[in-house]
Amino acid sequence: MRHLLSTRDLDRDTAVGILDVAADMADVATREVKKLPTLRGKTVVNLFFEDSTRTRVSFEVAAKRLSADVINFSAKGSSISKGESLKDTAQTLAAMGADAVVIRHGSSGAPRVLADSGWIDAGIVNAGDGTHEHPTQALLDAFTMRRRLHGNAARGKDLNGLRVTIVGDVLHSRVARSNVWLLGALGASVRIVAPATLLPMGIEEWPVEVGYDLDEAMDAGPDVVMMLRIQAERMSAAFFPTAREYSRQWGLDDERAARLPAGSIVMHPGPMNRGLEISAGAADSARSVVLEQVANGVSIRMAVLYLLLSGTGEVGA
Ligand code: CP
Repeated sequence: MRHLLSTRDLDRDTAVGILDVAADMADVATREVKKLPTLRGKTVVNLFFEDSTRTRVSFEVAAKRLSADVINFSAKGSSISKGESLKDTAQTLAAMGADAVVIRHGSSGAPRVLADSGWIDAGIVNAGDGTHEHPTQALLDAFTMRRRLHGNAARGKDLNGLRVTIVGDVLHSRVARSNVWLLGALGASVRIVAPATLLPMGIEEWPVEVGYDLDEAMDAGPDVVMMLRIQAERMSAAFFPTAREYSRQWGLDDERAARLPAGSIVMHPGPMNRGLEISAGAADSARSVVLEQVANGVSIRMAVLYLLLSGTGEVGA
């Protein structure tokens, strides 16, 4: 693997291979010494043009657990805020010897531009680009689902037969897009539930079933309910009448969460708008795996950095 830009690029076997390497990395996290020497001498740059807590910190933890050097570089407080271009920034990082660049950018396609540019000879990892994709989020979500489905016997397995319902602001969600492509490759069936105003153009071409009624979707008994954050920062218009109305019709409240079948799980990529798309009761319930998702993010990001930088070039090697 040279870059990780999109889950659309991943076929079933490649995706399962990444999840298997992540399972090995999760085993390392249970040891007294959680560090591997694998990436000693390599440099990972976290280049974040948008805010992040989970993704940035977990890439840093992942790189350090693999003994890489880490440079955290955010647009705020750097020469980017003085108008420096992506090209000049990339060439500066190249001159400093970056082996991998983990990039989050507000523009869809920015990681692809970096990967195709020739400005820098480093592995590029998309840590979220505009409303396009967030591949490591989808991988950690799939890893979390696979562990719940198959437990300790998960290695080599996909998500065939799993029924996943994704709810909310699909229009602005890179998490939803990456999940739809990856879950499809792994054999899960996906239902999307949202107000019509928060569905993207062309959704009829996605490999999903679309609905508008959350209660109907809950009564269908999904294995996984993934609530999406309302991305107010990307909204230039009113997409629903009021927050209260949204919460009443499309929010996962305590009553809806209680109706889910035994064994089903509630996911959210974070950060959560408690009281809007998810109630505090549902977010903190026994069904919620939100913190498990965060912990699994470190294992997935270790696997991705390992596969990009260890020189094996092979998934599972
Ligand atoms: N899920 C996610 O991308 O969270 P952060 O914005 O905190 O990185």
